[in-house]
Amino acid sequence: MVVVIDGKAKAASVIETVREAAAGLEQQTGVKTGLAVVIVGDDPASHAYVNSKSKMAKECGFKSVQHTLPEETTQADLEALVATLNADASIHGILVQLPLPKHLDSVPVIQSILPEKDVDGLSFVNAGKLAAGDLETGMISCTPAGSMLLVRSIHGEDLSGLNAVVIGRSNLFGKPMGQLLLNANATVTMAHSRTKDLAAVCRNADILVAAVGRPQMVKGDWVKPGATVIDVGINRVPAPEKGEGKSRLVGDVAFDEASAVAAAITPVPGGVGPMTIAMLMANTVIAAHHASGKSAPKF
Ligand code: GUN
Repeated sequence: MVVVIDGKAKAASVIETVREAAAGLEQQTGVKTGLAVVIVGDDPASHAYVNSKSKMAKECGFKSVQHTLPEETTQADLEALVATLNADASIHGILVQLPLPKHLDSVPVIQSILPEKDVDGLSFVNAGKLAAGDLETGMISCTPAGSMLLVRSIHGEDLSGLNAVVIGRSNLFGKPMGQLLLNANATVTMAHSRTKDLAAVCRNADILVAAVGRPQMVKGDWVKPGATVIDVGINRVPAPEKGEGKSRLVGDVAFDEASAVAAAITPVPGGVGPMTIAMLMANTVIAAHHASGKSAPKF
């Protein structure tokens, strides 16, 4: 029987650790962990994500600040806001929700966030630390960090001898995920849209991580028998069976087919999704500990 990996339960246990760590820090030092989330424009999906981030921060006992900026915000205004948050000692984590509206250039905005407040792990300093194998002093991007906790719940800390395939090579997910798997001694293949015979590459994976953004693209016969499948996709597709105009969420993996072959698999929803927010809270409380000269909790 396939193990359906319970991301909700794992995320809840991460959140509990965060809550305790935040309370402990406040009791010891008087420092309240602070997270600022910035969103520009009106994209409804982004607003839903950001609202749940702000809400969870409150539930963790953080100071939670949300800046909602209009679509017509200028590059200079957005960078000025980041500069203000950088200088605000009560804010330990800054997240600028991506994607930004088309007229804004995300690179200088993201790179202007102080690395020690970059809870997305996107600054060149944090990306470089991860690439160099420093998992202690930098910030690791939340979705790969959360996916890695799910991998570890199946395989433990050491992935020696295992082949891992990551489909997708984004800075936000694929690249850091590949680095984390490599750090844990897996033999890693980074696959992407230009990979030849992707199905055959995937069939070699003991750990298959899909982050392609295409609903149910990874089929059952792409999965090696006994593999662990981590589905990072969140795709909304029409669901006429639920009624006219209704939709449902599916991953990048054809779940039913893949479950018949895999030994462990993450569902969508309820797999990687809840881990992303949990790890954002984890990164924020880690940043608050670093800023206060205290040793940070481990996840
Ligand atoms: N948009 C979708 N996922 C993310 C994320 O993890 N961080 C940011 N900043 N934007 C996102």
